[in-house]
Amino acid sequence: MADNAGLRTAVILLDVEFDLSRRHCLRIRIVKIRLLTLATAALLLGCGPASNKATPEKPFISAADLGEQARLSNAQNLALPEFAEANIERGGQLFGQCRGCHGVDDGGMNLLGPNLYGVFRHKAGGNDKFGYTQALSTARFYWTPQALDGWLLNPSRFLPGNAMSFMGILNPDDRRDLIAWLLTVTASPEAESANN
Ligand code: HEC
Repeated sequence: MADNAGLRTAVILLDVEFDLSRRHCLRIRIVKIRLLTLATAALLLGCGPASNKATPEKPFISAADLGEQARLSNAQNLALPEFAEANIERGGQLFGQCRGCHGVDDGGMNLLGPNLYGVFRHKAGGNDKFGYTQALSTARFYWTPQALDGWLLNPSRFLPGNAMSFMGILNPDDRRDLIAWLLTVTASPEAESANN
């Protein structure tokens, strides 16, 4: 009888141990599955390498890379093939992101950022009535659609040290539409008639 009881206890103990180790394994497996799900979710949400897909294929052009710039009138710029598919109306809606800091009307006030009327063809930091940072006031480039494209994609990377707190517009079509709208509404007669 006593032996039997000992054996039974041993069997129960073994059982418990087996059960515990199985549960342990199960827990490890659940943790592993959770980690895997998290990694997949992170990838899907764009935290991993997949997020690069949103950025355009062409290399980033910063202010320092612009080189010799063609200073076309707004109308000439709008006639370029890159704007053939532009949705100007949509560009106007996208300007909602800028409106809090920028006006576009002739003679409009400077807000937190300078008024953008006549901005194309102008030297960067060229609005006399606005207090620019040193980065913009000493910059040596003109606002062209190409320059604005880099600025809007990533202002701080395009011109380090500037004070425009704006995180940038990743979608190249959004930038194209917004630039096309700006070309339409900020055209000053003076810039349109200038030859250079
Ligand atoms: C939070 C306010 C803010 C927002 C939002 C903002 N800007 Fe600006 N922007 C500024 C400031 C401030 C400057 C001047 C920066 C400096 O002096 O370094 C500036 C400068 C600029 C300039 C240079 C103008 C010049 O005279 O050289 C352009 C072009 C411009 N912004 C376009 C835009 C556009 C387009 C948007 C929307 C996509 C936008 N900004 C959103 C604050 C803003």
